[in-house]
Amino acid sequence: MSAPVLTSVAWPYANGPRHIGHVSGFGVPSDVFSRYMRMSGHKVLMVSGTDEHGTPIQVQADQEGLTARQLVDKYNRVIVEDLHGLGLSYDLFTRTTTGNHYQVVQELFLALHRNGYVQSKTQMGAISPSTGRTLPDRYIEGTCPICGYDGARGDQCDNCGNQLDPIDLKNPRSRINGETPKFVETEHLFLDLPAVSESLGSWLSTRTEWRPNVLKFATNLVSDLRPRAITRDLEWGVPVPLDGWRDLPMKRFYVWFDAVVGYLSASVEWARRTGDKDAWKEFWTDPAQGYYFMGKDNIVFHSLIWPAMLLGQNGRGDKGGTTGSLGDLALPTEIVSSEFLTMSGSKFSTSRGTVIYVRDFLKQFGPDPLRYFISIAGPENQDTDFTWDEFVRRTNFELANEWGNLVNRSISMAHKNVGAVPRPTAPTAADEQLKAQSRAAFDTIGANLRRSRFKAAASEAMRLVGAANKYLSDEEPWKRKDDPERRDTILHTALQVVSDANTLLTPFLPHSAQKVHELLGGKGVWAAQPELKEVDDLDHPEISYPILTGDYAGEAARWESTEIEVGRPLDKPEPLFAKLDPELGETGPEWAPITK
Ligand code: MF3
Ligand code: ZN
Repeated sequence: MSAPVLTSVAWPYANGPRHIGHVSGFGVPSDVFSRYMRMSGHKVLMVSGTDEHGTPIQVQADQEGLTARQLVDKYNRVIVEDLHGLGLSYDLFTRTTTGNHYQVVQELFLALHRNGYVQSKTQMGAISPSTGRTLPDRYIEGTCPICGYDGARGDQCDNCGNQLDPIDLKNPRSRINGETPKFVETEHLFLDLPAVSESLGSWLSTRTEWRPNVLKFATNLVSDLRPRAITRDLEWGVPVPLDGWRDLPMKRFYVWFDAVVGYLSASVEWARRTGDKDAWKEFWTDPAQGYYFMGKDNIVFHSLIWPAMLLGQNGRGDKGGTTGSLGDLALPTEIVSSEFLTMSGSKFSTSRGTVIYVRDFLKQFGPDPLRYFISIAGPENQDTDFTWDEFVRRTNFELANEWGNLVNRSISMAHKNVGAVPRPTAPTAADEQLKAQSRAAFDTIGANLRRSRFKAAASEAMRLVGAANKYLSDEEPWKRKDDPERRDTILHTALQVVSDANTLLTPFLPHSAQKVHELLGGKGVWAAQPELKEVDDLDHPEISYPILTGDYAGEAARWESTEIEVGRPLDKPEPLFAKLDPELGETGPEWAPITK
């Protein structure tokens, strides 16, 4: 059996419904990858959940007039429904407000602390002079002391990528009301990044397979790491399990400190829910492979901070130490980050009004057209503009005219003439060539998917579809009334390639793949879908919440060509994809009209 695969998917903030920009970064890519890995025989554990602490939550709660708890309860549910609708095959999609998550975060922290990788320091913290409340780092803006960029935030400069402290900013101002923050003394805990920088550096030097931009970004930062604060003056978050800290109402872990531990805590929760509480371990120890999916603004936390936390708990930095109670935990194998999906050149953003919600999209178009668009035309390597025009073209010309049409005409003709998968006789060179191309596609597309090259993989699958359509046009089975043997051989060849192409497209189009499987006379579950379940918190049974999980081991899809069974009855097929009105490309839908 091949190595177990952990698919770690970035945790969306529970501060609003998801828009298509979000799911193009973390959602669809991680699902295509996981589905492929399962099909090719790996045990996969795909985990995530909603990120429910920190100031992004507090600020939105204030805006909606809700408590933080009410806000996350509301949006956790909305997000679970969005992701369920897209067919993202999580083994567990949970949340960061569970008893289990709190425990695992605290356990990991205690190991770091015991090993000497946490220091306490008094720091200058910003407060708002008008309200007296703590002003969170990311709500302070000013000039970057390193590169001079004027839109730098208190936590990080998006221009040069450096992590910052608010007090470093020149001309600091509040992004909430523009006032100049006041800085006062406050005690915080810091992760001693310099003490792991050497181990981090040598680990990074083994990461030769990473995308060059990610590797360069991380390598540049590693030589110049400073201790990072891992606590905040905030009521909403995971409490610090140390004497003198535990009961302070205004000291909590920084949201990013608790969120990245989510990959581990969700794995543990999954195991506890399966009844084998140690089942998570094989996904976190050698030779397991961990693939982390996210948008590019998350790279620093996954390529440096999380690995640093793991090294510290493993006792593998300058201070040594012993492995924490969770065991020796594996660092990420691969960081798969995507760029941004933009609209008319600007980042999708709820606040600026350029927003297309997943929910509205799914209601009108269903999941597979969006999954396809993101896979073949998404922001894999560069910021990419979403346009309705391109969405309409891809759906109509590629999904409907190419793939839908190939399925439809092959099955209709076989149904009409034979009523079943026809028996082939002497194959010609053209038949053999198409079938050989189809068989070879498993290796090429598999190699691309393994390396998260989704565009190349989807394009290659569509090239096979194109070749099959050309084959049918060249061979003209509909004109072979007086040579039924040749006609049946052509149809058999076409159906074999439809079956192969359907397998190759399954990671991208799992819902339509299930339909094609059935149109070809197949029974049972071909591509499994996640289930939305209401469960009790394992440690606080009075609280319940929705999760996504699924029985993916039971699906039939395998990454290989399977011979279609001669004589299997074929019904008249229903069209696979609805064609969109081309006008949609110019106007957009009513709920997201194009404004000129
Ligand atoms: N909530 C963060 C964001 O939306 C992502 C958190 S990823 C995690 O940018 F690993 F920290 F969970
Ligand atoms: Zn900068």
